[in-house]
Amino acid sequence: MARDVVLVTGGNSGIGFECARQLARAGWHVLIASRNRQASAEAVDRIARDSGADAASELGLDLGSTAAVRQFVREIDARDVPLRALVCNAGLQVHKGPQLSPDGYELTFAVNHLGHFLLTNLLLARLVRNAPARIVIVASGVHDPKFRTGMPKPAVADLATLAATGGPRAGAFDGRLAYVNSKLCNLWFTYELIRRIEAAGLSREGRWVSVNAFEPGLVPGSGLARDYPPVLRFIWDRLLPGLARLLSPAVPSINPADKAGAALAKVALDPELDRTSGRYFPSHARWRAARSSDASYDQAQARALWDASVGFARLAPGESPLLTSA
Ligand SMILES: NC(=O)c1ccc[n+]([C@@H]2O[C@H](COP(=O)([O-])OP(=O)(O)OC[C@H]3O[C@@H](n4cnc5c(N)ncnc54)[C@H](OP(=O)(O)O)[C@@H]3O)[C@@H](O)[C@H]2O)c1
Repeated sequence: MARDVVLVTGGNSGIGFECARQLARAGWHVLIASRNRQASAEAVDRIARDSGADAASELGLDLGSTAAVRQFVREIDARDVPLRALVCNAGLQVHKGPQLSPDGYELTFAVNHLGHFLLTNLLLARLVRNAPARIVIVASGVHDPKFRTGMPKPAVADLATLAATGGPRAGAFDGRLAYVNSKLCNLWFTYELIRRIEAAGLSREGRWVSVNAFEPGLVPGSGLARDYPPVLRFIWDRLLPGLARLLSPAVPSINPADKAGAALAKVALDPELDRTSGRYFPSHARWRAARSSDASYDQAQARALWDASVGFARLAPGESPLLTSA
């Protein structure tokens, strides 16, 4: 593998696939990491037809299982992958639940936040060695109660209850709320991660390690609705994508997957962003940096989520360059 490698979680579908395709066009080798290896192999074929045989490869990853994430990173280490960028894009919404991860956490929290938290920490030393390096975390506008999205407002009480239920109340489950909360966690994680990277001196002149968050807008047609009831899935899969393409030029927060994926790739690539960190790139600002929700800047919450996540993922000293120096 001679080229620099960018790892795209969830790169076999939707926004992640379109991002992967753009990154390969820009000369990167894209490593797609998802559970469905058949879908990943097809994605690799499509990218190879577009950008050449060495443009992409795939590896199985289940972000819902901390053991699987560790196994995945062992494989990356064994292959000594020259990783220079990580796009934490994979995500799911659970409608019938609660469903628990193999570690016993609510599945939305486990996949959308905890799996990426662990993966990023385990890959960080490799990214730092290969710096300049980038980390981009895909959040969602639904985390911000200032915008009317049709989704519930985030509601987080104690973090153990969040991890167990996706919400603020023991014994209750609302899949949409679990999703919204997980997307707020993505922002707390983004901002806390870069604070810790900078405090540890891991991002240096000429060898920057940047961390930013991205928000694609409403992108119908992706696999995110796979768990919806059939009527809603039909609308999401068949009716809305055409409408999104039509509306997107006038309504920046509704986008087809190729447009959102290209914008995500730009945050991972754009040389102008080499030294830009801790910023949020949302669709409503046409992917210029803008403020995320007020709650997302709560440093005490971000620190508390970090500390709790270290415990949930059983992150051990030696596994992350941030654990010894934090
Ligand atoms: N579509 C929207 O309107 C929208 C809006 C705002 C934000 N987003 C965010 O955009 C990102 C991409 O979503 P999308 O809309 O493109 O949906 P998508 O087409 O369903 O893509 C999600 C990807 O995540 C992967 N994935 C799901 N569970 C996983 C797991 N346990 N381990 C590893 N990979 C897993 C899926 O692959 P496998 O099933 O093969 O694992 C798939 O490749 C998500 O973070 C989502 O929250 C989407």
